[in-house]
Amino acid sequence: MGAYQYLPVWVLLLLAVTGPVCCLLESGELGKSVYLTVKLNLPAQREVQWRFGTNTLIVSAQPGIPPIYYGAYRGRCTLYENTTLQLDSLTDADTGQYTLSVINVDTGAQQQGSVNLTVHSPLTSPTLKVNVSTTNGNAYPVNGTIVSLHCDAGGQNVVSYTFYKDGVTACSQPYVTCDKDFLYFQPIMMSDTGTYTCKIENSVSSNTSQPLSLTVIGPL
Ligand SMILES: *[C@@H]1O[C@H](CO)[C@@H](O)[C@H](O)[C@H]1NC(C)=O
Ligand SMILES: *[C@@H]1O[C@H](CO)[C@@H](O)[C@H](O)[C@H]1NC(C)=O
Ligand SMILES: *[C@@H]1O[C@H](CO)[C@@H](O)[C@H](O)[C@H]1NC(C)=O
Ligand SMILES: *[C@@H]1O[C@H](CO)[C@@H](O)[C@H](O)[C@H]1NC(C)=O
Ligand SMILES: *[C@@H]1O[C@H](CO)[C@@H](O)[C@H](O)[C@H]1NC(C)=O
Repeated sequence: MGAYQYLPVWVLLLLAVTGPVCCLLESGELGKSVYLTVKLNLPAQREVQWRFGTNTLIVSAQPGIPPIYYGAYRGRCTLYENTTLQLDSLTDADTGQYTLSVINVDTGAQQQGSVNLTVHSPLTSPTLKVNVSTTNGNAYPVNGTIVSLHCDAGGQNVVSYTFYKDGVTACSQPYVTCDKDFLYFQPIMMSDTGTYTCKIENSVSSNTSQPLSLTVIGPL
């Protein structure tokens, strides 16, 4: 309650009319199911509707009769008594905004809330590559030179990258910098010889590269 007493009256009115404006986010995995939930104060006698985007009706339910599912949503979703919507067999086209409306049948008062769904594909394995300057004419990284590793996820929707050397995180050394999909040795040392992998993650899956062996050689 505390924070509300400092808001001007018009903001309180706006909150009361529209409900919380921001911002539920949900993730689903391609082909799997997701539960969409918006917390509203549920009146005992209520009409419930879920819509997708601006105007596509998914389901509506009136007191005392089974829910009615519309169009392509028939057979692909389930409305629970608590207004949670289960959506199955997710496709990329299901990414978007879902709005729950609850109407109090006795008073006609309406509440709304939304949740944004993002459908992710399971991540496929990234490719770990080493960038050795070719100007020294050598295929191996040379001690004391700047070398980078690139964890190439091929344009997939990745939230985080982690680099490992011999199974242990590789970014803890002061001269090693990790920045998203790149790791920089500034410079590389003999002791950096080892087997490297990188792992990519998003909210629904993760995958790891094939190992890459790195052998650091002394200056020629
Ligand atoms: C949710 O989706 C709507 C419609 O695409 C968009 O306008 C809104 O900014 C999104 N909200 C968040 C928090 O991503
Ligand atoms: C509503 O019911 C479904 C099915 O029993 C459950 O999975 C979901 O967590 C419930 N939602 C809430 C907000 O309690
Ligand atoms: C990682 O991706 C490969 C294809 O690149 C796939 O065969 C494998 O099942 C994936 N692993 C996981 C754990 O999803
Ligand atoms: C490799 O590193 C050099 C020097 O840092 C840079 O100029 C070049 O663009 C890099 N190449 C790739 C493919 O990242
Ligand atoms: C590798 O380089 C570091 C400094 O960059 C140097 O101190 C060390 O002696 C070098 N080791 C070899 C074997 O060249």
